[in-house]
Amino acid sequence: MISLNNKHILLGVSGSIAAYKSAELVRQLKNAGASVRVVLTSGGAEFVTPLTFQALSGNPVSSELLDTAAEAAMSHIELARWADVILIAPASANFIARLAQGRADDLLSAICLATNATIAIAPAMNQQMWVNAATRENLQQLRQRDILQFGPGEGDQACGEVGPGRMLEANQLARLTADIFETGSLSGHTVLLTAGPTQESIDPVRYLSNRSSGKMGYAIAQAAIEAGAKVTLISGPTALAAPPRVERINVRSAQQMFDAVMQHVTNSDIFISTAAVADYRPVNIAGQKIKKTEDTLILELQRNPDILARVAALENAPFTVGFAAETESLEQHAREKLESKGVDMIIANLVGEDIAFERDENTLLILAADNKQQLATASKRVLGRQLTDIIAKQKNTPRSI
Ligand code: PMT
Repeated sequence: MISLNNKHILLGVSGSIAAYKSAELVRQLKNAGASVRVVLTSGGAEFVTPLTFQALSGNPVSSELLDTAAEAAMSHIELARWADVILIAPASANFIARLAQGRADDLLSAICLATNATIAIAPAMNQQMWVNAATRENLQQLRQRDILQFGPGEGDQACGEVGPGRMLEANQLARLTADIFETGSLSGHTVLLTAGPTQESIDPVRYLSNRSSGKMGYAIAQAAIEAGAKVTLISGPTALAAPPRVERINVRSAQQMFDAVMQHVTNSDIFISTAAVADYRPVNIAGQKIKKTEDTLILELQRNPDILARVAALENAPFTVGFAAETESLEQHAREKLESKGVDMIIANLVGEDIAFERDENTLLILAADNKQQLATASKRVLGRQLTDIIAKQKNTPRSI
């Protein structure tokens, strides 16, 4: 039984008789727990109607690059960012050529150009087209760009010939799609992760906090599990469900988060501090609700422990990854944190009213010793997977990403 729980699969259907199998593929992806959106090329629409895919996926089907209604709902950029994986099944010889050329004159090829999600193709074509030198060269280019290739199989073809070029069956494609998420890059590792905000009580009904939703941290926790790690997630108050197989420990305040981290850190070889921890807490917590008797109210605050710096300073410190949330001079401030907190890696993001906090997308800059790497805007789920891969590599080869 495969699992694609909470995964966003964008299924591209190009012009091939094998498009009839894609209807069953949508059903299997949905049954495995994925959200599926279908993009039909004009060739694909000759074989199967949008209505079939709409009924099976439960989502509108997109076809046109320049469609004012679609732009208002989900433009090609939004679709490109929405997807965890873009699976093109069937991928016709023509579509493969277009993908190799980096064309952007129809919706599906434009999405492929605008995404940093994993792209996989399931070729389907006549066996002579499959062995043609032009197709071989196109496929080689796609492999160099890390585009995955599922199949094709061999056998009887719709044109009456026999040979390679048959699209794989729906159950094989669903299984290969699920395998994309199980990278194994962190297998054997134990990851301790913090996420979400902290709440610092002022009185029995009020607290100081921030706008962290926990989405970034939970996405990393999910990706680390899929990469084969054992994951403990110490979470401030959020509305999110813990990803399956993650051990979640709930805390409220920075002090509680600090205590929980110190209790679990000795069993971990990677620590990722995604939580937006309050730097200060009220010196005194009023026993009763504070009354509004005065025009002004002064709260006296004291520093909370810096969890990240304390972990990095431990004698047997795990590989320690911090975040830097900045509203200006991102790289400069992040580099200062990399050094002052003594961590192995800093993941920097600009934050603000409509940036990073609470949103499904983020843009990240990674700094480690002498290295830096920019990750383009993408869903936090996609970024979570990119980060776990980078952390796995960096842990094994310190001082280079
Ligand atoms: O939760 P989301 O809505 O998805 O938003 C994601 C995010 C913006 C919260 C996340 O991407 C992020 O930037 N997290 C770090 C927030 C933060 O507190 O940054 P900072 O620059 O103030 O702190 C630097 C680092 O020190 C962070 O790793 C933080 O976890 C850690 N820290 C800070 C204070 C403290 N007392 N203890 C700490 O461990």
